[in-house]
Amino acid sequence: MLELQIKDLCVGYNGKEILHNISLDIENGSFIAIVGPSGAGKSTLLKQINRLDPGKTGGSILWRGKDVDDYDVHELRRNLAYVFQKAVMFNGTTEENIKLSLKYGHEFKPDEIEALYQTVLEEASISQDILDTPAQDLSGGQQQRVGIARVLLMGSPVLLLDEPTASLDVETSNKFCQTLKQLKGGPAAKDGKKRTFLMITHRLEEAKFLADKILMIEAGHIVEYTDCETFFTHPQTQRAAEFLKAQAL
Ligand SMILES: Nc1ncnc2c1ncn2[C@@H]1O[C@H](COP(=O)(O)OP(=O)(O)OP(=O)(O)O)[C@@H](O)[C@H]1O
Ligand SMILES: [Mg+2]
Repeated sequence: MLELQIKDLCVGYNGKEILHNISLDIENGSFIAIVGPSGAGKSTLLKQINRLDPGKTGGSILWRGKDVDDYDVHELRRNLAYVFQKAVMFNGTTEENIKLSLKYGHEFKPDEIEALYQTVLEEASISQDILDTPAQDLSGGQQQRVGIARVLLMGSPVLLLDEPTASLDVETSNKFCQTLKQLKGGPAAKDGKKRTFLMITHRLEEAKFLADKILMIEAGHIVEYTDCETFFTHPQTQRAAEFLKAQAL
């Protein structure tokens, strides 16, 4: 089943086109890593998916067969949740920060909430002993996990992750990637559908570790959209081969 279909998407500002005729299909349950140089249009593409970016000039994005423009915007963003480079922590404990999303999420019955909350803590690797800690005192890695827990508790089946490890040290970011790996392929809803991930990263080891498919973008064009192994072992384009080669010092 297709989770997302992007058709001839064009985005531009003040007459300057940033994304040019982007078309791709994303399968339910897949993990897509989006790579490419700075300024390529990666964040612009991700933000188009849940309408955080106003610059669309043409084309369409369908989520589960329906144009994203035809959804109520709150419903759309609840289902396709954007996780920023740094999670925002509000005043209050870790528990309060995670449970905030219950206000905006899908409607769960009260007796379902506690069970779901415990599952989410486990899935997002949040230990019980930090639940009473003020969330603003948590480390960067812990805060990122709180950000993910919120999205999971909201019941979002599509996670849009924009460089979620960019502000973390290597050890913490590796732990975070382990958490994502455990979440990968997991159930998104009772209807048997799975969670789908789109993650922008500049760290190719993360892409290799997590992704089913790699989407490489440069200057607003798709350079490659291939399965992970092919991308890293037999890139189909000269440009992707150069990009991979340039990763080594
Ligand atoms: N709201 C906007 N108005 C004008 N230009 C914009 C806007 N949003 C993005 N752009 C331009 O679009 C281009 C692509 O930006 P984008 O943030 O998508 O790149 P990126 O691939 O995510 O880069 P990075 O890896 O550095 O995060 C940039 O040249 C940027 O200046
Ligand atoms: Mg970006």
